[in-house]
Order: sequence, then structure tokens, then C-alpha cells
Amino acid sequence: MTTQSADGFVTVARVGEIPPGGVKVVRVEDQSVAVFNVAGDYFALEDVCTHDGGPLAEGVLDGDVIECPRHGARFNVRTGAVKALPATAPVPTYSVRVQGDEIQVGWS
Ligand code: FES
Repeated sequence: MTTQSADGFVTVARVGEIPPGGVKVVRVEDQSVAVFNVAGDYFALEDVCTHDGGPLAEGVLDGDVIECPRHGARFNVRTGAVKALPATAPVPTYSVRVQGDEIQVGWS
């Protein structure tokens, strides 16, 4: 389902598929990417906690902060920045855009 556009974006979901406060995990090449909807805005980051590899999308989203389900590290989904230990390194993020009814992640 991931078709890359000429400018490097990949369609990962349809508008309406991810409700506000929700998340969808997609595979782009070999990477798991978590696409969050925060009050109508979409943010994408690696679905891998930098502490010990926990699946971030399985955690609890509180506003724009996701809490890792494994040991409770918290990250800002807008920036990937660490908000709480035990993680110390930010999570890589991806740009997101909406084209028509498609949610696309930058992948170049
Ligand atoms: S793996 Fe995420 S806090 Fe440990």
C-alpha cells in the first residue's frame, strides 16, 4: 500500500482513518512508523523507543506526548524530543502532509 510519489512522499493512510488521539502503525520499507493524530494534525515518528526498542504506538497518547508502554519514557510526537526518562535520545520523526484524502509521510 506504500507507493512513493515523485517528490518522496509515501501514502500511509486515508483522512478519517486515524481519529483524533489515535495512531496507525505502517511499514515503510523496513521501518515501522507510527502516525499520530493530535487534534486533527498528523505526526509521524519511528515506532521504536530509543530506550530499549519498545513499540511506542502501543503506549498512551496524552495530548502530543506518547508514553512508551515498556518503561514509561515519554516523547513529544511533534518533535520526537524526550520528555521523561529512562530514554535520553530523541525519536526520529518524519514530515507529514495531506494530499486530497491521503495522509503522506516524507521518505527520501
Ligand atoms: S523501551 Fe521505552 S522506556 Fe524502555
